[in-house]
Amino acid sequence: MLIISCSHGGHLGRRTAKKSGLHHSRIIADKFPDNELRVKFNIDLKNHVVALVQSFYGNISDCIIEVVLAAKTAKELEARKIILLAPYFPYMRQDKRFNSGEAISQEIIAELIGNYFDSVYLIDPHLHRTKRLENVFKIKSYNLSAASLIADYIKNNIKNPVIIGPDEESNKWAKNVAEKLKVDFRILKKKRYSSYHVEVKLDKKINLKNKNAVIVDDIVSTGHTIIEASKTLNRLGAKKIYCLCVHGIFADNALSRLNNAGIEVISTNTIPSKAAKIDVSGILSSALHVN
Ligand code: R5P
Repeated sequence: MLIISCSHGGHLGRRTAKKSGLHHSRIIADKFPDNELRVKFNIDLKNHVVALVQSFYGNISDCIIEVVLAAKTAKELEARKIILLAPYFPYMRQDKRFNSGEAISQEIIAELIGNYFDSVYLIDPHLHRTKRLENVFKIKSYNLSAASLIADYIKNNIKNPVIIGPDEESNKWAKNVAEKLKVDFRILKKKRYSSYHVEVKLDKKINLKNKNAVIVDDIVSTGHTIIEASKTLNRLGAKKIYCLCVHGIFADNALSRLNNAGIEVISTNTIPSKAAKIDVSGILSSALHVN
């Protein structure tokens, strides 16, 4: 097997290959003057299982086109099997037609990827209305989780934690982490009016005196969910507010806004950033080893 990092996968591809004792290389992905992508392999792929590593952040559309071009080319260059290691996979939240006329992007993007890859490995994909990854992809898919790493981080770094899920969708991450740590947890109620306007409320009181409130969620995008949750937690007297997330997208300068609101944010490195302190390469490496 060859581990080959795409433009947004180098931060994990190299480490994953090293942990697995596999050869690592990068594809060349640059742009023509008209903004079209050019993708090129610089090693022989014939008869190899090729694992492309790409996390989908920044210019997500380019990231998608890049892996499609790369996977199809790998097949033409006689790779035996083509795998996508996608630490963060996009479009999972668009799992229904929220407004009439809207695309159900989750299905469409999964179908596109499924046309070119033999299998996919995703870390904590946002599964809500579609509960199982097998129902999203028609190809073989592996749903990996960073919950244990997040629990370990909290255990080693945060005293007296109470785990808070900021909305119903965060329940499986927050509950899972709280159970691993054997500490209290509470799920808040969120109402979303738009991408930038959410309301987060508590429906049953919780005493946070002398406790550190640790908000656990899969994705932080604009950060509004976390900022609204933190207002409630501050009112309840939390000593300090932390946010532990798997995928730190941090759109619109969210990390600075969260930090300025007094929230300490820690994420995994599915997406690189200043907050990405939890390394997930071991999860990818173990998954490749097992399967
Ligand atoms: C959705 O339910 C997710 O779990 C996150 O809570 C959401 O994506 C966060 O978005 P934002 O940071 O823009 O409020």
